Amino acid sequence: MFVSSKIAILLSVVANYCYGYRILVVFPVPGKSHSILGEGYVRHLLAAGHEVTYITPVPMKEPPPRLRQVDVSENLKYLAVDEMFDIKQLMTKLDNIQEYMPFHKAMENMMYQTYQLPVLQRFINDPKERYDVAVVEWLYSELSAGFSTVFNCPYIWASSMIPHTAVLSLIDTHVNPAYSVDHLSFHYTTTFWDRLEHWRFITKLTYYRWSTRNEFDEKMKNVFGAATVKRGNRLPHFDDVRYNASLMLGNSHAVTGDRIALPENYKHIGGYHMKEVDEPLPKDLQKLMDESKNGVIYFSMGTMLKSSRIPDHIKRNLLNMFGELKQTVIWKLEQVIPDVPKNVHVTTWAPQQSILGHPNCILFITHGGLLSIMETLSAGVPIIGMPFYADQFLNSERAEARGFGMRIDFDENVAESLRVAIKEMVENPSYRQRVEELSPIFKNNIVTPGQQLSYWVEYVIKTKGAFHLRSPALQVSWYKTIHLDLALVLLLGVILCFKLCECLFRLVRKGESPKKKRS
Ligand SMILES: *[C@@H]1O[C@H](CO)[C@@H](O)[C@H](O)[C@H]1NC(C)=O
Repeated sequence: MFVSSKIAILLSVVANYCYGYRILVVFPVPGKSHSILGEGYVRHLLAAGHEVTYITPVPMKEPPPRLRQVDVSENLKYLAVDEMFDIKQLMTKLDNIQEYMPFHKAMENMMYQTYQLPVLQRFINDPKERYDVAVVEWLYSELSAGFSTVFNCPYIWASSMIPHTAVLSLIDTHVNPAYSVDHLSFHYTTTFWDRLEHWRFITKLTYYRWSTRNEFDEKMKNVFGAATVKRGNRLPHFDDVRYNASLMLGNSHAVTGDRIALPENYKHIGGYHMKEVDEPLPKDLQKLMDESKNGVIYFSMGTMLKSSRIPDHIKRNLLNMFGELKQTVIWKLEQVIPDVPKNVHVTTWAPQQSILGHPNCILFITHGGLLSIMETLSAGVPIIGMPFYADQFLNSERAEARGFGMRIDFDENVAESLRVAIKEMVENPSYRQRVEELSPIFKNNIVTPGQQLSYWVEYVIKTKGAFHLRSPALQVSWYKTIHLDLALVLLLGVILCFKLCECLFRLVRKGESPKKKRS
């Protein structure tokens, strides 16, 4: 008896150690930077001993043990990535690129179609699939919350940006436009017009979510309904599901963000996508960087924007300008290009984290994507930001405001403005000093971002949905959260007071005037 219970304990310990929890990670957006974020979750959760199923359009080539992948790469055809993020087009249509709705519609559409793919339907209809928790990426659509309904498990939002109103309103309430800037804003300021614009956006989003709630419910039932019912689970209204997340893990960090108040169930894990140790550089790059005594300038537009789509004459201007510098320039460009100046090294693939980490790297010219910003902060390299879409404008302007970067426009005259900016950045040491102050702050965390990630995912499972962390704001009507009822009552009170005073005044005057007549 005694021995057998010991064996049972031992067995359960071993079983726990071997299998951990069963975790579903859903990152359906067909784009390299989003797969980097998804793979970060997979890597850390596997390292913590769990079994992971990863729904992705960019499956890993050699999946490690305990990882299963559901390949939804067929969904590439549902999102015109190359068209959406085409540099040539983005250069000319700057007015409407920062609108929420086009992003939302494109992503919503893509996800809805992705979840109807036979490979995905087979997966969710398989009764053997069971999960303890689902981690789903939020990217302008909330449909993925439905996985929690199918598998009857808690879920966690993975947010890829700095906390902003569209995501925070899913777990708490809207941010305060008085001192926070929306992630799609062109400028990092809160002038009267910026605040008005922010309020307009919040009102529009609130109305949109409310007015389309039945349409979304329909969509959720179409893709997840049958599988949910088959498993004998309840099928709630979509609105009850999308506001039911246990936690939000944000690709953000106090030092990269705006220090706004956050609910208890928002956790920063920014930096988790990075390798703990820089991988060694390829031999030729290592040699090139070691020998660049005047420093290296690294130029990359990230993974979504194709630098090869920069108009040819601009590319030529850039190359000529780079050729006049005494520094070495490493340019990540997806094409072979003739007549490259001696100090310019064009490469189709670049291990970014390792290049930034080389002591000779003195400047990073970037599109201002958040992953690049974090990598540069970690390495302590100042930036020139040339934003194109989404949060890149804000990331670049924020770097400028924090003193470790400059923001310029990518337009016809980019080579000239870049020449001026590079001169300033190279000659003025303040940018470097500033980034060297911020870098240790970014890296000084209680535990690594990856350890925090797995801690919080496990926490949600162990506390059965972490209800004690959820914000009470979700239970409160929107007009109460902005104190509209109080303001109205106050206003009525003030009006009433005025009216009363007016009446009294009249009465007194009436009483007085006959007296005057008599005297
Ligand atoms: C909300 O989540 C909890 C667990 O996290 C679950 O028990 C509950 O059924 C969910 N409610 C809805 C409406 O999805």
